[in-house]
Amino acid sequence: MSTWANLGLQDSASPLMEQLIFFHDHALLILVMITVLVGYLMFMLFFNSYINRFLLHGQLIEMIWTILPAIILLFIALPSLRLLYLLDEINEPSVTLKSIGHQWYWSYEYSAFNNIEFDSYMIPTNELATDGFRLLDVDNRVVLPMNSQIRILVTAADVIHSWTIPALGVKVDGTPGRLNQTNFFINRPGLFYGQCSEICGANHSFMPIVIESVPVNYFIKWISNNMNS
Ligand code: CUA
Repeated sequence: MSTWANLGLQDSASPLMEQLIFFHDHALLILVMITVLVGYLMFMLFFNSYINRFLLHGQLIEMIWTILPAIILLFIALPSLRLLYLLDEINEPSVTLKSIGHQWYWSYEYSAFNNIEFDSYMIPTNELATDGFRLLDVDNRVVLPMNSQIRILVTAADVIHSWTIPALGVKVDGTPGRLNQTNFFINRPGLFYGQCSEICGANHSFMPIVIESVPVNYFIKWISNNMNS
């Protein structure tokens, strides 16, 4: 999760988020190089008193500053497309989770496991445990196995919500009447926090998501306990 003064991206917990961070750094590097170059040129113009009285046109420089930015943009566009298709790839998921957005909480269904279903509400500040995270902890967490391909199906019951987990690189809109799909692979155990990221109403800020990533045998234990009850 994000902590104080963490202005960058969170540490990744999935291979796709790792790729997203690499792409972000790559795009930022190009951005900084352009900003420094243009900034330098603009700054130096203030101290330049030379004037070319016969300047009407410059075919060569026009060619250069048209084609060069186009080539630079290719260096961003091609890795971006690669990532886009990588994010869309579904690779034989072993667990499917359905999450449904409501005003203002999430509900979850493990359709393949005897249809386990539960609601997940934020814990109000006055009921929070001393080690709880304010506006971020929920009463019922989503338990998922680590080192497994996980598919999530996202929809909503009332207005548009968005199921977003920064550490996993997941952000899918839940839209009434539609079923959106994405997948991810959690490569370590832990708690991963997220929040709804579509402006969905008065309590939009208060429908967090908590994923509890556990080893596969613990997940099997959890799921069989819940199937029997
Ligand atoms: Cu649900 Cu914002």
